Amino acid sequence: MRTLTTERLILPPWDLRFEEDLCRLSNDPRITRYLGDGLPWERERAITRHGELLEHWREHGFGWRGIVLREADDESVIGVAALNRLPQPLPGVDEPAIEIGWWVDPRHWGRGIATEAATAIRDEAFTDHGAARLAARYQPANHGSGNIMRKIGMRHHDDVIGPYDEDVRVYVLERADWWTWLGG
Ligand SMILES: CC(C)(COP(=O)(O)OP(=O)(O)OC[C@H]1O[C@@H](n2cnc3c(N)ncnc32)[C@H](O)[C@@H]1OP(=O)(O)O)[C@@H](O)C(=O)NCCC(=O)NCCS
Repeated sequence: MRTLTTERLILPPWDLRFEEDLCRLSNDPRITRYLGDGLPWERERAITRHGELLEHWREHGFGWRGIVLREADDESVIGVAALNRLPQPLPGVDEPAIEIGWWVDPRHWGRGIATEAATAIRDEAFTDHGAARLAARYQPANHGSGNIMRKIGMRHHDDVIGPYDEDVRVYVLERADWWTWLGG
């Protein structure tokens, strides 16, 4: 379980001490607006998810990471950079696929933090975990998230209806395309 670092960020594996950070971030409607049902998470839901995130690391050796600013005096988590096994296969996306995602505290939006973190965990998925492909999903109104997918080399794959009857756009990055993207 190694901590990733980038020019401005520290990305530690999900940790017991991140429970309150998850409760705070997931209770912010600006964060959850385009996630699933769009509702802020109640504390109980966040705590259950926190336990699942720790379990995911134990089972698969990768998972969600906190985003910490290198410039900060403390180690407070200002976002998440997420890799996880898809809960169920996506239509037309061959398994094994790893899902990639990101949240950033709204106080830090617009500084390229999500893109920087996404680039690091994209490379982690292919180099450390031998991923065959990455998948990501976003609701079409969530333009920022779609921009990140394109900026890290992902391509539009399909449009589907999510479990809350919401429109969902699916993006994929195949291993061979990632290598080409890097100039390999
Ligand atoms: C999507 C999100 C992670 C982007 O975080 P960020 O650190 O601001 O992202 P970046 O600075 O790397 O910019 C990525 C895109 O976000 C958008 N963006 C940037 N600043 C923004 C702001 N102040 N307000 C709204 N969107 C903004 C832009 O579209 C940008 O793309 P561009 O640089 O090509 O114009 C952030 O808005 C967020 O946490 N949203 C809530 C959680 C979420 O929806 N996650 C994705 C689920 S699919």
